[in-house]
Amino acid sequence: MKFFVDTANVEEIRELMETGLLDGVTTNPSLVAQSGQEFTKTIAEICSITDAPVSAEVAATETEAMIEEGTYLASIAPNVVVKLPLTFDGLRACAHFSRINIKTNLTLCFSANQALLAAKSGATYVSPFIGRVDDINIDGIELIRDIRAIFDNYAFETKILAASIRSVNHVSQSAVAGADVATIPPTVIRKLAHHPLTDKGLKQFVEDWKSTGQTII
Ligand code: E4P
Repeated sequence: MKFFVDTANVEEIRELMETGLLDGVTTNPSLVAQSGQEFTKTIAEICSITDAPVSAEVAATETEAMIEEGTYLASIAPNVVVKLPLTFDGLRACAHFSRINIKTNLTLCFSANQALLAAKSGATYVSPFIGRVDDINIDGIELIRDIRAIFDNYAFETKILAASIRSVNHVSQSAVAGADVATIPPTVIRKLAHHPLTDKGLKQFVEDWKSTGQTII
């Protein structure tokens, strides 16, 4: 499974890219607002750090304006993925970008039917929001499983991008359910490597090694 980082914070992205664990970046208007930075400059800066896919979301809600904004965003760098809301207007804009080979990420997906429409419109990625689905007492991971089954039934090439990830368990459960990508907040990425038995075991190894009085080099 690929890992994207879900943030518009350039310094976080730079630092996490250095780990070699990241395969891309997603942003959204809320993350841009949190960063306090100018949107298009931030996207250009992120794309100067990495050639990996960087999702940049349109602000418009009507097809023609989405196409105009998406075309501009895509001109910033070749690795920009135009992020569009999963509405009929967004689907029409998606079909346009698909015809001219501009990559798209259909966001705010909350149902298997919406994901099916995204795939039929030629979306590169569809983003089911598992955390927000869990918030209303519906199983977000079950949604990933359903979309996986549908895409496999019809050999759709659209990638399932598990979004709205809130915990380390969401990451592993999305992988088991067959998501192609998970977009993960930096705090959760940092927690993924942590295990108390690793810490305990390492402490013991360090002590035992010291007791041997040896050095490796
Ligand atoms: C990413 O593409 C989504 O916009 C993001 O994961 C949404 O996360 P949230 O539900 O925590 O805002």
